[in-house]
Amino acid sequence: MRKLIAGNWKMNGSLAANAELLQALRAALPAAPAADVAVCVPFPYLGQVQAACTGSAIAWGAQDVSVHVAGAYTGEVSAAMLRDFACRYVIVGHSERRQYHGESDDIVAQKARRALAAGITPIVCVGETQAQRDQGDTEFVVKRQLAAVIHAVGHCVSEIVVAYEPVWAIGTGRTATPEQAQAVHAVLRAQLRAAVPSERRVRILYGGSMTADNAAALLAQPDIDGGLVGGASLKADAFLRIVAAA
Ligand code: G3P
Repeated sequence: MRKLIAGNWKMNGSLAANAELLQALRAALPAAPAADVAVCVPFPYLGQVQAACTGSAIAWGAQDVSVHVAGAYTGEVSAAMLRDFACRYVIVGHSERRQYHGESDDIVAQKARRALAAGITPIVCVGETQAQRDQGDTEFVVKRQLAAVIHAVGHCVSEIVVAYEPVWAIGTGRTATPEQAQAVHAVLRAQLRAAVPSERRVRILYGGSMTADNAAALLAQPDIDGGLVGGASLKADAFLRIVAAA
């Protein structure tokens, strides 16, 4: 299956910096790269990214979506609005949303459902904190997080992308070893196999301090189908080297 390398720009960028980055990515990427490539950008830049990437191999998406459809929800952005900007993906349940915005498993699951209903692929993030890992709760935590989504979306689970992002590896430079990541991916794979009624393989990405130097070893693992890349997605050269490793 084709791997997916998705950049999560988080709250970074400017019109000028994005233009430079997107131009560099477009110029360097072949028309049909060996892996699927996407950038998930802050809401205000969706129009810019759509204009810059239409007709290229780069897909785009957002970093969050509202659980609500429309109406008096100040500051929220609906799935239909993302659809207006031709988003192919939206990240839901990133640990930074869970941690700083109190997003529960149930809210994350509802967001995944909203995205799917709008024809947008949710990239559902799961992952344990350092304390949870230390207590031996990694498997329990990631399975609970994914189970909420499976329960909410039913057979549409075959349409999602999962991203395993150990919280302790995000932005810390402490990447999970390929073996650590593979062990958790295998758990998620088994859970998805039991839930997905077809043979269709759901892509499971790894995220957390993925770099041009460690990407190849991670992506060589049997159950790692791509990467969700934070810091390294902000530099064209680093991001392109990760894409090349896929
Ligand atoms: O969603 C991507 C992510 O949280 C990883 O960030 O900066 O550790 O690659 P980073």
